[in-house]
Amino acid sequence: TLAALSSLAAACGTGSSAGSPSPVVALDFRNPLRVPPLLHPRPDKDGVRRFDLSMQAGRTPILPGKQTPTWGFNGAFLGPTLRADRGDKVEMAVRNRLPEVSTVHWHGMRLPARMDGGPHQPIEPGDTWTPHWTIDQPAATSWYHPHPHGATAQHVYRGLAGMFIIDDDLDLDLPSDYGVDDVPLILQDKRFAADGSFDGDPLKGTFGILGDHVLVNGSHNPHLNVTTERVRFRVLNGSNARMYTLGFADKRRFHVIATDGGLLGAPVEVEAFALTPGERAEIIVTFTPGEQVVLRSTDNGVDIGEGDFDLLKLIAAADLKPAPALPAHLAPLAAITAPAGAKVRRFKLSGHDAINGKPMDMARIDEVVPAGALEIWEIENNVYSHNFHIHEVAFQVLDMDGSAPPAYATGYKDTVYVPAKSVVRLAVQFGRFTDPVSPYMYHCHILRHEDSGMMGQFVIVEPGTESRANLTLPTHP
Ligand code: C2O
Ligand code: CU
Ligand code: CU
Repeated sequence: TLAALSSLAAACGTGSSAGSPSPVVALDFRNPLRVPPLLHPRPDKDGVRRFDLSMQAGRTPILPGKQTPTWGFNGAFLGPTLRADRGDKVEMAVRNRLPEVSTVHWHGMRLPARMDGGPHQPIEPGDTWTPHWTIDQPAATSWYHPHPHGATAQHVYRGLAGMFIIDDDLDLDLPSDYGVDDVPLILQDKRFAADGSFDGDPLKGTFGILGDHVLVNGSHNPHLNVTTERVRFRVLNGSNARMYTLGFADKRRFHVIATDGGLLGAPVEVEAFALTPGERAEIIVTFTPGEQVVLRSTDNGVDIGEGDFDLLKLIAAADLKPAPALPAHLAPLAAITAPAGAKVRRFKLSGHDAINGKPMDMARIDEVVPAGALEIWEIENNVYSHNFHIHEVAFQVLDMDGSAPPAYATGYKDTVYVPAKSVVRLAVQFGRFTDPVSPYMYHCHILRHEDSGMMGQFVIVEPGTESRANLTLPTHP
């Protein structure tokens, strides 16, 4: 059956047959897809959900017959999926069992800056960091990963990343049985040395790592058995630099239902959608009994999205459990509208080691934002591909080079593609956690660029106190 599987894969076209050779190795889908386990909180009487995370080193079988040295949370590679409801009080105990200082950032979470896990919250080897906050944002697919200044690319590349799902009580009939019809897909490309270890320097070249093996949830060459008529996939681009344009080998249409920050107003039907590093999307795919179809990425003609290649084969059972129809309306998505005369901030990206000509400085506050502000952020990119992530906020994309974003990208976001030589304008909703001495970050999420200094810092202060804010911080020891 393996031979049958691979000839089927060849017949469907694995990319290498179509035009230019793919930079990614062809697959025969022999391995079952790993699904990160759900992490259950410690039982507590006070209603606080306490999650224990341990950052550790280990070895993971990824390629046949090889053990890859990897890093992970609570295991050798990647991390468990955290899940909490809107309104929950959560507390994390993050133990660093690595030989290096690191941090853990809650990407997409709206929380006080001291809990954010950016470069100002280092966890020394052997130490435990215990941030806590109340989840107060719509249902969404967020994630967590290290953010130590200058070493994020390496720590994420070694395997430290996990998903953080937020649920709310919108009464929608969407697939939500974790690992069955609600399935995380964490996409990461790697290079391997002959001995099976990860190869490549994530801080070299224009983009660092653009790997020739794409892992899904840490699995190479994977398939997934589908047992229900409809499946919701939560797709996270956890790659260092690669952009994916995702669709199916048979060009079937499917629905995007959520972006980084949560559900769209209504499902958007697509044949493909793009994700740059750090971005998430939720999609709903319909299957017919007994069929097989391959999820793949197609060449989008840009420097970080080259090649046609397969990612995952989906194998539908002969009998599929019926699923409710896709709801016509999802979330009451209020537009983020900056008022007339709203503050406009401009950010210029050129090269890959600075924003507005200034490399990241832990001691410098670049922007002071009043609590609750609605602002326009304009990102101008003069060179090759970048993207732009802002901590703590939700934004909507106003336009990309004057045109509206694709319909599937009109929801709440925290990370956005900024194509080469383009201007992207965002309407940004800031939160209300004031702290004049703890900054949040904004940066390119191509980790080689983030680590090289394409990052800046902002603080949120009481409205009216902006001009008194101190623009210099003591550097971290
Ligand atoms: Cu996902 Cu500042 O990062
Ligand atoms: Cu973030
Ligand atoms: Cu960049």
